[in-house]
Amino acid sequence: MSNRTFTMIKPDAVANGHAGKILDHIIQAGFRVVALKYTYLTTDQAGAFYEVHKERPFYGELVSFMTSGPIYAAILEKDNAVADFRNLIGATNPEQAAEGTIRNLYAKSIDANAIHGSDSDENAAIEGSFFFSKFEQF
Ligand code: RTP
Ligand code: MG
Repeated sequence: MSNRTFTMIKPDAVANGHAGKILDHIIQAGFRVVALKYTYLTTDQAGAFYEVHKERPFYGELVSFMTSGPIYAAILEKDNAVADFRNLIGATNPEQAAEGTIRNLYAKSIDANAIHGSDSDENAAIEGSFFFSKFEQF
């Protein structure tokens, strides 16, 4: 069990003005911010980030959505970070996201679903290093 996960507040949530509330929700849930960046993904970066989904039918839409506006990227720390954070954000489809989860509160659709959370310790480390050098992690 690792104590770090990686998140992105996605373009829909940033555009809708929900980024501050979502960040506060995360911090109030006991996650410590290790690194934080407001940035914009290029098509190449979004394509590489979601490379595991390359063969899936929604890959093109996913890449174009993730490049539709700026995002917040962050590394977060807490005991059992990956699993606890997935519980905090809720199911991929906001219609199935449990009451009070971030996707239940802020997501509009399965594409515009407000937030990303790493799905394993291994991917959390890969995704965090995609955005942050070790000198940007505190
Ligand atoms: P994320 O990686 O963004 O945290 O989302 P997730 O783990 O909950 O879902 P994942 O399976 O990794 O899929 C990545 C993103 O692709 C879109 N998606 N669309 N139409 C579909 O069936 C479908 N399935 C996934 C979602 O926007 C999802 O967040
Ligand atoms: Mg995923």
